[in-house]
Amino acid sequence: MNRYEELIEMALEARKLAYTPYSRFKVGAALLGKNGVVYKGCNIENASYPATNCAERTAFFSAVSEGVKDFEAIAIVGGAEKSAQLDYCAPCGVCRQVMREFCNPKEFEVIVAKSMQEYKVFTLEELLPESFGPENLA
Ligand code: THU
Repeated sequence: MNRYEELIEMALEARKLAYTPYSRFKVGAALLGKNGVVYKGCNIENASYPATNCAERTAFFSAVSEGVKDFEAIAIVGGAEKSAQLDYCAPCGVCRQVMREFCNPKEFEVIVAKSMQEYKVFTLEELLPESFGPENLA
């Protein structure tokens, strides 16, 4: 198994815990820290819809809340609960901006996967060009 496949496997595992009574669309993320630890996250919905948290942000907030702020890559898997196959689930704009807060856009890798065999790898810069980040306020 290559390092992408390992991370996708953990994202698939994380997806099982998604709390999605409203959309029934389940997402899992596995965020690899530079410390070698993987932080998992799932989407967590809310009866007040805007209070929903995406899987990617759950993973980031879990890591940051444990004092970790340096990351290498994130794998993301998502799809409708009822569907046997997953679709490519690219991160939403808010999650891209959260990644931008902590990650080097030229180096951080975003792995968008349908399965352990089918995946695309992007840099954060490809997904969020001409971005606004912490340096803009320094
Ligand atoms: N969602 C994620 O968790 N990550 C994404 O990248 C796209 C969308 C969630 C939010 C909501 O619970 C459901 O998918 C439908 O939008």
